[in-house]
Amino acid sequence: MLLNLKECKICFPIFQKHPNLVYLDSASSTQTPQTVLDAVNDYYINYRANIHRGLYDLSGTATQKYEEARKTVGKFISASSKEIVFTSGTTHGLNLLASGVQNTLQPGDNIVLTEMEHHANLIPWQKIAKKKGMELRFIPMNREQRTGNSYELGVSDIENLIDEKTKIVSFTLVSNTLGTINPAEEIIARAKKIGAITIVDAAQAMAHMPIDVKILDCDFMVFSGHKMYGPTGIGVLYGKKERLEALEPFFYGGDMVRSVSYEDATWADVPEKFEGGTPNIAGAIGLGAAVEFIQSTGFDKIQNHETQLTNKLINQLNSIPDARIIGLNSEEKRIGVVSFLLKDIHPHDVAEILNRDQVCVRTGHHCTMPLMKKLGLPGTVRASVGIYNTEDDIDKLFASLARVMAVFK
Ligand SMILES: Cc1ncc(COP(=O)(O)O)c(C=O)c1O
Repeated sequence: MLLNLKECKICFPIFQKHPNLVYLDSASSTQTPQTVLDAVNDYYINYRANIHRGLYDLSGTATQKYEEARKTVGKFISASSKEIVFTSGTTHGLNLLASGVQNTLQPGDNIVLTEMEHHANLIPWQKIAKKKGMELRFIPMNREQRTGNSYELGVSDIENLIDEKTKIVSFTLVSNTLGTINPAEEIIARAKKIGAITIVDAAQAMAHMPIDVKILDCDFMVFSGHKMYGPTGIGVLYGKKERLEALEPFFYGGDMVRSVSYEDATWADVPEKFEGGTPNIAGAIGLGAAVEFIQSTGFDKIQNHETQLTNKLINQLNSIPDARIIGLNSEEKRIGVVSFLLKDIHPHDVAEILNRDQVCVRTGHHCTMPLMKKLGLPGTVRASVGIYNTEDDIDKLFASLARVMAVFK
């Protein structure tokens, strides 16, 4: 049984403004439900003030709501609120981590990533590796006989790849280009054996599957609010308390200090140590509301619904002789982020014609240029589903793709 989607779409005002919108770009950014908009507006209209500083009631309310949001986010991933740092998003979190751990790294050490990383989990490490004289290693995708690539990581080799010189293992839980769910448990277990720091980029996972950091047992995890029905410009860095305590701060300034003299400063406790300056207060409160929105729907329903839509998408693509899926062909080990190509039509041409029918998809390299190069592709068309999509949306996508093929026949 599909979720009652009429009701679900009604929760998102954008679909009332644009009743014919077929939004299939949730991997890029999800739409925002009314409850999140209300929470953000509530802050601006009813209790806007800075946090942690004012002794007046408005500031007290703002502080209380901001800290409640931290608790809500913490509970969502089974972490304590002390382990939740608000950031501006996944990119901020990864840069903070790369900068924060660098003093513990030595020339000759190595950092292990995967072949499917978003640039946000690649470039910060490239910078640190160059600065420190370290090696970057990549967990490769399995080879597959027919197409050459399996679109899955080959973990049989990680015993060799992650060795005594590995200090950081940082990987995406779900590929934003292929939709593959990576074998986090195996990677983390191997990294733990040799004492490397483990970092999970959960940007593409948070809205689609339950995550328990206690079970995952990673040291750090990062994600973005705007990919999980929350506001833009807010994200989270989760870290085990002792790991956060050992990390250097990234931003220096107000609200992150214990004491300051003209010559020196000491830092506040975690998580404040990482939240220098006035944070995105409304964003954090909105993210708390987004978490409550996901929880009130429930991951059982979300996964069931999105799997059905993904299967429909994959089956229909498979029924088009000229279509090629760039990713796993089954519902297992993947989410509803589906990359594909149509004949030799350039992805941008596909997207432009889809746009005329108000069908929104993403095209290009999806911020994974090295992966595209490895696959020998200029880019892909990527359709990605969210909680509000319906079977009708998938039908409209394929009606529009038929028009693309008619133009380029
Ligand atoms: C896997 C992955 N990591 C990192 C990012 C960067 O996220 P943000 O732009 O919200 O910082 C994205 C965004 O698409 C992503 O998909």
